[in-house]
Amino acid sequence: MNKRQERDRPVVVVGYPIDERVRREVLEPDFDVRMLSEGDPLEPALSDADGLVTLLTRRIDASVLDAAPRLRVVGNVAVGVDNIDLEACKARGVRVVNTPDVLTRATAELALTLLLAAARRVPEGERMCREGRFAGWRIDMLLGLELQGRKALIVGKGRIGAELGRLLSALGLEVGYVTRDTPKETADQLLSEAQVISLHLPLRDDTRHWLNRERILWLREDAIVINTARGPLIDEEALIDALEERRIFAAGLDVYEREPHIPERLRRLDNVVLLPHLGSATRKTRYEMARLAAEGVAAVLRGERPANLVV
Ligand code: GLV
Repeated sequence: MNKRQERDRPVVVVGYPIDERVRREVLEPDFDVRMLSEGDPLEPALSDADGLVTLLTRRIDASVLDAAPRLRVVGNVAVGVDNIDLEACKARGVRVVNTPDVLTRATAELALTLLLAAARRVPEGERMCREGRFAGWRIDMLLGLELQGRKALIVGKGRIGAELGRLLSALGLEVGYVTRDTPKETADQLLSEAQVISLHLPLRDDTRHWLNRERILWLREDAIVINTARGPLIDEEALIDALEERRIFAAGLDVYEREPHIPERLRRLDNVVLLPHLGSATRKTRYEMARLAAEGVAAVLRGERPANLVV
């Protein structure tokens, strides 16, 4: 008798040290759980796996799926699923679940944090204090921009974009949206008038470099660009050029085109606020994300259809 027959419970591989409560309450009652560390290779662990819970830092493509002949479901502990080859999953009948809703507020709050920090030059002031360069109050020191009354353009009216829109309206900004259905001319016009531009699109072939070099050229001199979605939505090199040449006021970035690589040119600039992909990084949200991904995997393995099914 092989190991599988002895066990006869479905095997769920978890690609990172998942929250202990989630493991105990959601997975262990029904499944044999195999926990990996973030650096462990995935393929060898997947040879007899029925389910997988993974982080967005792992690419799940055809070659990974080929190493997992029994796999029925992948739970991505993220709302974005651009790390997963959805066509390859569909072709093999592998379902994919993600973590919508639970991270909406945390991510919108982080976008707002980046915006406030960029507008009021918070990192420059912080560095000045830490480096002992604060030599006394000055009337012209680190002057920034006030947000009230500014025109904000939110690109993508999904959950996070809409939540940020509510927060910005409450702060007195005039909020508009463009979506994938907005005609190109209208989108371009709105973009050229906007003083705050925040990106909230999923990364797909048709959204890659949504903010391209041409569009960056049209931005206003007082524009602030915020990205908490995915780095490749912006032509990063064109954005760096605009920041270096002071053609826009500032940017606040949580994600990068070749993450985790952050170009040296970007790191040298003082008119950009840089964070290491912290959008959903609150204790509450990260717990709820783990739970939702694990519950989705468990539901599929029980033959149910979870609400967070992507394909
Ligand atoms: C994080 O980036 C996510 O997609 O959840």
